[in-house]
Amino acid sequence: MLDLTGKSILITGGTGSFGKKFVEMVYQRYPNIRRLVVYSRDELKQFEMSQHYPQSTYKSIRFFIGDVRDGERLKRACEGVDIIVHAAALKQVPAAEYNPMECIKTNVFGAENVINAALDNGVQRVVALSTDKAAAPINLYGATKLCSDKLFVAANNMKGSRDLRFSVVRYGNVIGSRGSVVPFFLDKRKEGVLPITHPDMTRFNISLEEGVEMVLYALENAWGGEIFVPKIPSYRITEVATAIAPDARQEIIGVRPGEKLHEEMITETDSLNTVETDKYYVITPSTPTWSVDEYLKAFNGRRVEMGFKYNSGTNTDWLNVGQIREQIRLHVDPAFAV
Ligand SMILES: NC(=O)c1ccc[n+]([C@@H]2O[C@H](COP(=O)([O-])OP(=O)(O)OC[C@H]3O[C@@H](n4cnc5c(N)ncnc54)[C@H](OP(=O)(O)O)[C@@H]3O)[C@@H](O)[C@H]2O)c1
Repeated sequence: MLDLTGKSILITGGTGSFGKKFVEMVYQRYPNIRRLVVYSRDELKQFEMSQHYPQSTYKSIRFFIGDVRDGERLKRACEGVDIIVHAAALKQVPAAEYNPMECIKTNVFGAENVINAALDNGVQRVVALSTDKAAAPINLYGATKLCSDKLFVAANNMKGSRDLRFSVVRYGNVIGSRGSVVPFFLDKRKEGVLPITHPDMTRFNISLEEGVEMVLYALENAWGGEIFVPKIPSYRITEVATAIAPDARQEIIGVRPGEKLHEEMITETDSLNTVETDKYYVITPSTPTWSVDEYLKAFNGRRVEMGFKYNSGTNTDWLNVGQIREQIRLHVDPAFAV
């Protein structure tokens, strides 16, 4: 059982959607952590978050202004830190296409800075967040996250005798996250027409809580170099539209640049190194520093079949219209009604 009591944690991107949920759940479970450092750039977001976590009650919280591109600042922030959760990223697909170097600087060079700060400060566990868009990427955002994944996996080869493990958590669309389909359709439904990119389009679905659970799982269980992938359901975009506005007209507008019809989290090529446990798939490193057979024994796991792929279009687990509505009520708007 993971116990963060007495630990010092730094979360990059701590003011983002994931970061805020992470901080909330960590304080619910481990009120006696030693230090929880929120590391991000914008002072206003930090100020607003600090209103919810007054220092008088949350004695262990710290807000550090800093950019993951700034290696020196990150190293200073990581002094005395036991655990890093790396959630900071630029993640808007069109913005990344338009400003490619900005996305590379944050998502790739930022990842390298996190790794160096961990190596130089006696950090013991690092978990970095990835995305389904990093599997066989077709846009720059996905490509930078794939680079980041590779850096974190390979960092385990540089740790020497340090008690340090780097791992990655990769998942798909977070229901209700900023700029995603559910808030977009909720906003649009009053117009009576919902734009659909393609009638066959599918996506994976995960909640923020499940994302945080996975990161906590990885912190506790990683042997180093794994990419953890959750077993989660898919939905059809047309069914999200029906769930939100059953009477609205669905207008097909065409797939946008950089968008896939179906998202993928494990490619056929990854299947060679992929194992599964009851809850998760795990892409093991191609040059692991440990025995995969021992890993399978420890987690009661099995190898997936060669050629296996985990794709939102061929998934065996689907949310229907009623379940999508339930998810919206649970994770986006408790008052949601059709
Ligand atoms: N949302 C999804 O659907 C989804 C799905 C799969 C994976 N992910 C991954 O999950 C992670 C968290 O996503 P999210 O939804 O929480 O994103 P978000 O809400 O956009 O938050 C991003 C956070 O990163 C910070 N940040 C951005 N650039 C930074 C920089 N250069 N230096 C330091 N901090 C920086 C932002 O704060 P400032 O702007 O103030 O710096 C903010 O705190 C990302 O790695 C993303 O790729 C997200």
